[in-house]
Amino acid sequence: MAGRLAGKVALISGGASGIGAAHVRVFAAEGAKVVAGDIQEEQGKAVVDAVNKSGGAAIFVRLDVSQEQDWLNAVYTADSHFGKLTTLINNAGIYWPQGIEAETLAGWNKMVAVNQTGVWLGMKAAIPAMRRAGGGAIVNISSLYGLIGSPSSITYHATKGAVRLMTKAAALEYARQGIRANSIHPGQIDTPILAGLTPEQNEQIKAATPVGRMGRPEEIAYGSLYLCSDEAAFVTGAELVIDGGWFAQ
Ligand SMILES: NC(=O)c1ccc[n+]([C@@H]2O[C@H](COP(=O)([O-])OP(=O)(O)OC[C@H]3O[C@@H](n4cnc5c(N)ncnc54)[C@H](O)[C@@H]3O)[C@@H](O)[C@H]2O)c1
Repeated sequence: MAGRLAGKVALISGGASGIGAAHVRVFAAEGAKVVAGDIQEEQGKAVVDAVNKSGGAAIFVRLDVSQEQDWLNAVYTADSHFGKLTTLINNAGIYWPQGIEAETLAGWNKMVAVNQTGVWLGMKAAIPAMRRAGGGAIVNISSLYGLIGSPSSITYHATKGAVRLMTKAAALEYARQGIRANSIHPGQIDTPILAGLTPEQNEQIKAATPVGRMGRPEEIAYGSLYLCSDEAAFVTGAELVIDGGWFAQ
């Protein structure tokens, strides 16, 4: 299949829903072979079924990003089904708003395990396969909340800020090995993750977004499309803000 990602094999975490599912669709439409990983199996399988019906090539694997063995299985699936792994989208994430005193240690550990440890484990598992493939590209989905603070999301800020700098560390560690790493920082995107906020809170964020609307999941996937294509061969360690202008204020 022709396309901006022809010849690429992409592993996308959190591929069953929202931004991850949009990546699966956009990447397959641009010629990548896609492995979608998620803990939501039925929903993930439905996403890849739709892609395969429309002429793309995608498979689903059960992947809990906080489990190292799951990552090794997912990378093995990519290599064995599609011949190599060139592309990793560390997208899976969880969110709830909680202030410093209200957050629990269990909540902190859970969010760190998924949003932060999961990103490291994904890179750790995928990079040897990318090296075998002759190079690769990683996009780590951080957040606008990885760049700025807010009064009530301590753990989320901690994890997404970590993802931003883990990405730069990876970019520098592998710059001479043909493996690039960049982060994307979405603003408010219309996906189920926003259910953690009240409708009033969501309305407030929307009203404060300069373009006056929420983003669509595809609008994040198109950023990754560029960063994972050969068009971005000189782009590594960068952060791409896709937020309807919020960060410019
Ligand atoms: N939607 C937004 O406004 C927004 C803004 C900034 C950043 N983000 C980030 O974008 C990413 C995608 O979120 P989304 O908005 O599409 O939300 P979503 O809830 O629609 O999708 C998240 C996906 O991650 C999966 N997931 C959760 N825990 C997992 C685990 N342990 N292992 C594997 N998969 C797991 C879920 O099953 C789900 O399919 C997240 O990292 C999120 O923090 C979202």
